[in-house]
Amino acid sequence: MKISNIDAYQIYDSRGFPTLEVEVELENGVSACGLVPSGASTGQFEALELRDGDKTKFRGKSVYKAITNVKEEIAPALIGKSVFDQQKNDLLMIELDGTENKSRLGANAILGVSMAMAKAAAAARGEALFEYLGKGEGNLIPLNEIQILGGGAHAGWATDIQDYLVIAVGAKTYEETLEMTHNIYHTAGELMKKLGKCVGIADEGGWWPDYKDNEEPFEVLMEAIKLAGYEPGKDVAISLDIAASDLYDGEHYRFKLDNKVFTRDEFYDLMSAWCKKYPIISIEDPFADTDFENWKRLQAELGHKVQIIGDDLFTTNIKRIEQGIDQGLANSVLIKLNQIGSVSETIDAIRLTQKAGWLPVVSARSGETEDAFISHLAVATNAGQLKVGSFARSERQVKWNENLRIQRKLGDKARFVGAALYKTIFS
Ligand code: PGA
Ligand code: ZN
Repeated sequence: MKISNIDAYQIYDSRGFPTLEVEVELENGVSACGLVPSGASTGQFEALELRDGDKTKFRGKSVYKAITNVKEEIAPALIGKSVFDQQKNDLLMIELDGTENKSRLGANAILGVSMAMAKAAAAARGEALFEYLGKGEGNLIPLNEIQILGGGAHAGWATDIQDYLVIAVGAKTYEETLEMTHNIYHTAGELMKKLGKCVGIADEGGWWPDYKDNEEPFEVLMEAIKLAGYEPGKDVAISLDIAASDLYDGEHYRFKLDNKVFTRDEFYDLMSAWCKKYPIISIEDPFADTDFENWKRLQAELGHKVQIIGDDLFTTNIKRIEQGIDQGLANSVLIKLNQIGSVSETIDAIRLTQKAGWLPVVSARSGETEDAFISHLAVATNAGQLKVGSFARSERQVKWNENLRIQRKLGDKARFVGAALYKTIFS
């Protein structure tokens, strides 16, 4: 089944920022679109998101160059190629780009084509995307990591910590994780409003807080979990994304909220203390993407009972993940399609993570679209975990809802193992 046409045009993400939609059309008339997400607290090792930088067009954020690259360079190279050769076609785009970080054509241009190609191929086979990507092997409905409060770059630095999340570790079914999260999200919102601590909604749908320091939100989380009728640690655990690269100047970590400066040792002590004081089952980017010593130390101290996820640390990059595995820096990898910029490389990153006995967490970006590609990716690869931001706003809900549809389609074949997943890394 040959690719007959590729088109690209500018659409707008959940923040109203320009992004690309790419349409891949096949010789039988079937077509599909890929919608490209965009981060705000991006890692320095990510593939490059090409923006025009022309202040007179969408304040520098338009993506017309990336669109032109799809139409004038990528389309001529891929038209006539088999849509089922995902890996070969992704490689062809990578070679055509010719740079280490996809900076010539843009990772957004390449990813849009790559996603649309996978969706068109699935449609041509008459399969759901998860079936096509997983070659029929994917059937694990993921455990959700869901944001209750948003901070950092997603909430005008209302807190220095980026995400305060929960994981419904006691849930027996996927539906139950959603119900428990719904209850906690709304209980926390009511509680914060009553206390005058809620300013609004952050970029990923969580509550935008107004606190004096970064530890106060833990009390709200604990209280909301209890008020909603659950036992912290047993039914529902806390998860954090510190996004610590944003707090690090190469020597010190800094909290702007309460004007605190930490040496690397002091910041280690704080992260380790929080993990012991609160029922934290998962912590993402507790240290900067260059502070390997602290990563190694935390993994050695707490990796047997806390999921330690590298996001900015690994940026879904095979070479960086391999280095992390060799050095024992973490036990889990956050997986974001646009950090690396193609579907094939993303799946390779997941497979590498799993082969090492680590856990992948498939993730959305803070700037999202109505595309539910990642829900399919999570099930296709049996990744086991999905992080999409909060339990509100349609660009988030479309992902949670899609897993309900996938589960329904899988019928008896669908599996949900919930927190039993962590046995892989905690044993
Ligand atoms: P981003 O945030 O999409 O703004 O990078 C998500 C995350 O850090 O996990
Ligand atoms: Zn992160």
